[in-house]
Amino acid sequence: MVFESAVSDLVAKVEQVHKSYALGTSPVHVLQGLSLSIARSELVAVMGPSGVGKSTLLNCIAGLDVPDRGRIDVLGRDLATMDDEARTMERRHRIGIIYQFFNLVPNLDVEENVMLPYLIDGVTPDMDAVGRCLERVGMQHRKDHLPAQLSGGEMQLVSIARAIVRKPELILADEPTGNVNVATGKKIMQLLRDVLHESRSAMLLVTHNPEDAARADRVLFLKDGLIDDGDALAGEAVTVGNIHARLQELGI
Ligand SMILES: Nc1ncnc2c1ncn2[C@@H]1O[C@H](COP(=O)(O)OP(=O)(O)OP(=O)(O)O)[C@@H](O)[C@H]1O
Ligand SMILES: [Mg+2]
Repeated sequence: MVFESAVSDLVAKVEQVHKSYALGTSPVHVLQGLSLSIARSELVAVMGPSGVGKSTLLNCIAGLDVPDRGRIDVLGRDLATMDDEARTMERRHRIGIIYQFFNLVPNLDVEENVMLPYLIDGVTPDMDAVGRCLERVGMQHRKDHLPAQLSGGEMQLVSIARAIVRKPELILADEPTGNVNVATGKKIMQLLRDVLHESRSAMLLVTHNPEDAARADRVLFLKDGLIDDGDALAGEAVTVGNIHARLQELGI
């Protein structure tokens, strides 16, 4: 199913999504009717307490996990109508994922990890693009290291280079500054902003950091399995002060 023309500027649309995990006899109800949308070129931040379901939401949008109920359209396609293989192809081509725990391949070196989006797709890597991205995240000098020979922050930088190398239309970033120092975090946010601008990409950014969230066009707050549009901050209202205030109001 393709988006209607009136909403064709939407990159992702999540409607009434429910997701639970079965754990013994008591299921964990994580997402409980959550809805959101992301427009082309838009940077949307999602904030919420630990364990609330932010990574679960990203996994569902990425097609790595399947919701129990509800609908997710990504880049004009309804994920539920696609089989596993089609979902995987879509993800490889059009979505860049910065994983919370990096997901680097341990037996590939840094450069090979950044080449991975090409390799798993069976296409010849664009080595200029690979080199440029490594340069942009400041990891060119570590290109021959294995992930185990990197610091946590360095692994994060490599995972960012890998996510942006093919200029995806949608970037899903799960706490991309969670493991680096403040100055590097600021550089990462600027880099991601630049990438969105250059490629007209959109990004869903999960963060606990109000300074990072303040770089977004809209800030959403996930609480009790839901995002309440009434809590969202947009446009000029997106300030560090307002974000702090909202987090306090919501008890996040
Ligand atoms: N495979 C699973 N089986 C059972 N429960 C799970 C599974 N994956 C996640 N959960 C539970 O779902 C909830 C949401 O997890 P999720 O990783 O989405 O949280 P989060 O908002 O990303 O948290 P954080 O800010 O700590 O990264 C948690 O309570 C977690 O324990
Ligand atoms: Mg998480």
